[in-house]
Formats: sequence, C-alpha cells, structure tokens
Amino acid sequence: MNVGLLGCGHIATALAEGWSRPDVPDRLRPSVWGYDVRPEAAAHLAGLTGATVVDSPEALVAATDLLVVAVRPVEVQAALTGVAAHLGGRPVVSLAATVTIPTLLGWLPEGTPLGRVIPNVAVAQGCGLLVWADGTLGETAADVRAVFGVLGEVTDVPEHLFDEATVVAACGPGFAALFIEAFEEAGVAVGLDWQTAADLALGAVAGTVELVRRSEDTGGVRRAVSTPGGMTIAGIEQLELARLRPALMAAVRAAVARGRGTG
Ligand SMILES: NC(=O)c1ccc[n+]([C@@H]2O[C@H](COP(=O)([O-])OP(=O)(O)OC[C@H]3O[C@@H](n4cnc5c(N)ncnc54)[C@H](OP(=O)(O)O)[C@@H]3O)[C@@H](O)[C@H]2O)c1
Repeated sequence: MNVGLLGCGHIATALAEGWSRPDVPDRLRPSVWGYDVRPEAAAHLAGLTGATVVDSPEALVAATDLLVVAVRPVEVQAALTGVAAHLGGRPVVSLAATVTIPTLLGWLPEGTPLGRVIPNVAVAQGCGLLVWADGTLGETAADVRAVFGVLGEVTDVPEHLFDEATVVAACGPGFAALFIEAFEEAGVAVGLDWQTAADLALGAVAGTVELVRRSEDTGGVRRAVSTPGGMTIAGIEQLELARLRPALMAAVRAAVARGRGTG
C-alpha cells in the first residue's frame, strides 16, 4: 500500500520510522510518501526513513492509496479542505487528538472512508500503542488496520472515550519517563552514581513491565516483593502518603481537559 503522510512532524516521523524498520516483512511494509508545508520537516523524515517527499498535497494524494492526516488539531480543517477535491474515494485516517469523526466527515466529500488512530511514540520501535476507531472505513478497514498493526498493538476504543484513551496511551510515555527519571534521581539521592542509578531504575521498570504483562496482576507483583515489615513496604508507604495514585488521576484528568480546551 502507498501511504501518504500529510504533515511530517513528530508523530508522522515516528510512524515512518516504524514502517522502515528492517524487521517489518516486505508484504506488510507500505511505501511511505510525505508532504509538509515546512519542506525541512519532510526532508528530515525522508532522510531518516527513505520515504519519498512530494511538493504539494495534491501530488501526495495522487501518489498514494491512503491519506494519513498528521497535522496539529487546529490545522486539520484547512489541510483537509485543501485535498478534499482530489481524494476520489481514497480512505483517510486522522491522527489528530480531540477532532471527532463526525467533525472530520463534515470537511470531507460525502462517502469518504475515514478512521481515527492515536499512536504513541513507541510506534517508531514497533512496540507502540494505537488507539483505534474504524469510523466509516467499511470494507477498507482490514487493510488499513493491517498497515498500522505492524507498528504495535491496535486497541479499539469507542469514540466517546477517545480523549481519555489518548491521554493514557499517547501521554503515557511522558508520565512513565518522568517516573523513571525521578526513580533514577532517588537512587542518586541515596548514593548511587548516575549511570548505575539510571541502569537500575530503567531495568527495574522494564522487568516489572514483563512480569505484569505475563501475570496481568500488579498486586501480585507488589506482594511478591513486599516482605511484611520489610524494605519495599516501607517505601510503598511513603509513595501512598505522597498520594501517588490521586496525583496520577489528577494528571490524566488535567490532560483530558487540556485536550478539550477546558483546562
Ligand atoms: N506527538 C504525538 O505523540 C502524537 C500522538 C498522537 C497523535 N498526535 C496527533 O498528531 C498530529 C501531529 O502532531 P505532531 O506532534 O506530529 O505535530 P508537529 O510535530 O507539529 O507536526 C505537524 C506538521 O504538520 C505541518 N503542517 C501544518 N499544516 C499543514 C498542511 N496543511 N499540510 C501539510 N503539513 C502541514 C506543520 O508545519 P508548521 O509547524 O509550519 O505548522 C508541522 O511540520 C496532531 O494532530 C496530534 O494531535 C500526536
């Protein structure tokens, strides 16, 4: 499939990097094309991934079977209005946070097959999360999903919960990176050198992810390392006193509100 990236910024580049990984089988690897109003952004993406750059949105649509809209939410209407007349029934997938399928359809020719996906940055490594809604993709849905499926785990989410899922999946790497960084610094605070603290903090989190993935039981993992009256439970008590859980709930709520322009 020939995939056109309309906008070649951060997330488009992560998608193109994921599709250009050497371990993607050729039969699943799309040919990637890109257009950006900033030619340097498109050139950067092409330099990293081997994608082909074109110099107009019309040329992008003409060269491709699937249009992926990767511009900022406020730019989507103008970008879609610019290409609408050239789509000729091609499917479109929007990456824009907070812009709903009914809104997007209002900017597209009637009958356009349209889906929504919110990828997180880990798609660049093929281990991303992709919050997904088939929308009006209809019979094109299976092929379009397959193209995104090589980038990570595609999770269907009802559109009315898309903003919430966007925060957990796509803002999640920011929250998790902050935790790892703070954990590393805590190791330094008790006397480890920076490198050792960084290696141990990241290794502990990565190993825990695998344990939880296999057992699907965060409580079981916590109990297994919490000897009664021991070291781990002493640390957990401090995290609970510092209100880690309500802090995360507030963080997710604030991010959802900011996406909707209400916070
Ligand atoms: N970043 C993430 O982790 C992430 C995750 C999931 C979803 N998303 C969604 O993905 C979209 C892109 O986010 P981003 O972080 O990649 O943004 P970004 O880095 O700002 O990239 C957007 C690019 O599109 C260009 N552009 C603007 N209007 C255009 C047009 N009409 N035609 C072609 N290119 C145009 C922008 O140029 P100018 O800078 O000159 O405007 C910019 O280079 C957003 O809607 C966001 O909600 C992002």
